[in-house]
Amino acid sequence: MIEAPAKEPRELNGEDSVRVELVSRAFQTRRGRVDALAGMSLHAAPREVVAVVGPSGCGKTTLLELICGLQPPDSGRVQAGPAALMPQRDLLLPWLSAIDNAGLALRARGVPREQARKAAAPWLERFGLAPFVHTRPAELSGGMRQRVSFLRTLLAGKPVLALDEPFAALDAITRQEMQGWLGHVLESEPRTVILVTHDVEEAVILGDRVIVMSPRPGHAVREIEVPLARPRKRTDPAVVELREEALTALGVQA
Ligand SMILES: Nc1ncnc2c1ncn2[C@@H]1O[C@H](COP(=O)(O)OP(=O)(O)OP(=O)(O)O)[C@@H](O)[C@H]1O
Ligand SMILES: [Mg+2]
Repeated sequence: MIEAPAKEPRELNGEDSVRVELVSRAFQTRRGRVDALAGMSLHAAPREVVAVVGPSGCGKTTLLELICGLQPPDSGRVQAGPAALMPQRDLLLPWLSAIDNAGLALRARGVPREQARKAAAPWLERFGLAPFVHTRPAELSGGMRQRVSFLRTLLAGKPVLALDEPFAALDAITRQEMQGWLGHVLESEPRTVILVTHDVEEAVILGDRVIVMSPRPGHAVREIEVPLARPRKRTDPAVVELREEALTALGVQA
């Protein structure tokens, strides 16, 4: 019954990919129509980590919600394996402990609490949260909350992870630690990942490919392959060069 991450990670297959084709999405607001996405395309092969960078408001969160099936496109096509979203704002429930927050996706599927805790406990330990299993979100640091929130997404057991700025709002040191740690997790837990980030360096450090989006209405303006072995160092000249390329595509003076 429990679909917690298997000890032996299952191989992902072709259905665990993501394909977004010429998608447009607009919102009717009181001040008129807002075009969030216009002609947005991207694809991610199984196990691929595709980083998406773009200016604020260009439709990145909308894109992830489309991929997760939380909203429909107005036009175009979205095809994706079952996907779990790590939302931009951490939606940990303040009255639940870390372990119950981490296991929430399991509980939502009807897994009894003790079983959900059993599934979550080894992960909390692995992510350095063993002493905080019974701690509530308000008493956790920002980095700890992000880890719990990520764990909840991972424990949903879906082949596709849609991560919405998972390390925003963290100090530089914690963010670097978390980036290294996400890299490790993905080595042992194969997932297809769409990683939205403001941080071009983070995109190059973690992504197999980087998609650069235009300002709103968002679409892909550049696709940058990152053919570099992991772990990657931010000081590696090849990393620096790709970062500059992405910044130039974003229209930022390097
Ligand atoms: N439910 C909604 N109703 C009305 N407008 C919306 C809705 N969701 C998004 N928008 C608008 O669509 C545009 C894209 O929003 P979205 O949140 O996808 O951007 P984003 O790239 O994630 O921004 P940020 O980098 O600031 O997180 C914005 O102008 C936003 O105001
Ligand atoms: Mg967003």
